[in-house]
Amino acid sequence: MDDIRSVAAALVESPKGILAADESSPTLTKRFDALSIASTPETRLAWREMLFSTPNLSQWIAGVILYDETFRQRTSEGTLIPEFLAARGMMPGIKVDTGAKPLAGTRGELVTEGLDGLGPRLEAYRAEGARFAKWRAVLTIGEGRPSRQCVHANAHALARYASLCQEHGIVPIVEPEVLMEGDHSLERCAEVTRVVLDAVFAELREFNVDFRAMVLKPSMVVPGVLADPVGVDEVAAASVAVYRDAVPASVAGIALLSGGQSDATATAHLAAMNRIGSLPWPITFSFGRALQDEPMRVWRGDARNAEAAQAALARLAAANSQATENR
Ligand code: 13P
Repeated sequence: MDDIRSVAAALVESPKGILAADESSPTLTKRFDALSIASTPETRLAWREMLFSTPNLSQWIAGVILYDETFRQRTSEGTLIPEFLAARGMMPGIKVDTGAKPLAGTRGELVTEGLDGLGPRLEAYRAEGARFAKWRAVLTIGEGRPSRQCVHANAHALARYASLCQEHGIVPIVEPEVLMEGDHSLERCAEVTRVVLDAVFAELREFNVDFRAMVLKPSMVVPGVLADPVGVDEVAAASVAVYRDAVPASVAGIALLSGGQSDATATAHLAAMNRIGSLPWPITFSFGRALQDEPMRVWRGDARNAEAAQAALARLAAANSQATENR
């Protein structure tokens, strides 16, 4: 257990965070399509190899979450990606859920699947170098949403996943994401996030998950995208208040998702949370879009833009790193 506890601590320790480069192939294809970049296994590898080769990336990034396709690919020099990352001082992680699927008995809500056969998959990933894993649940806010059934089914699955990970020597990143879509208020998001986190931690306890050997990846407490925005400090205060109520102090750390916020906004929120100070756990970043959108716009599938794209990633990673240091 001590080994996974130290891996969990290292993933969230300031001044570092996590790069979430684990978009499934269909999701990455959508992002590529928007920029007219062809999406093939080769172009997806080129994109990720370019990102991971950014000079000094490990100064700011402790671990990188991979999708299965990337986990099995080799760099142009012939090195397996997980080994390439480890050699550059970054821990390889793996997304192990198989996506959010319709949850029967609800009106169109989703439950994240992937528990079948998960034990043997984790064993294989661990043998191939994965030190941590990720499972993302999605909850939407709306009339009668999220339903009790949806909250419970997702919390239950997250806890079974987390427990299995720890049994296999892998740190679980537990990601219950409350989506920003809708016109709900900051207060409503706070209420829902609290209910969701309470349910998640009740289930994690039920399945004897060691909190010191896990990382929580929550959404920030923000108003819906269709509602009036609120100030950065208001988001930070509301988020930290909810986490304080719901997240046990023994949890190794909190690594936030960006959820569709602009990179500058996500970084400003992270910095404001850390400025509050005297937090029981480190709060860092595990951003996908807020670290990669700008580099992807710069790269556009053209190797001649690689250096400029790497510079964009380095700038964003360094800014988020700095945002963890205000404690
Ligand atoms: P975003 O930061 O783009 O929300 O992605 C984080 C992530 O890993 C979602 O599962």
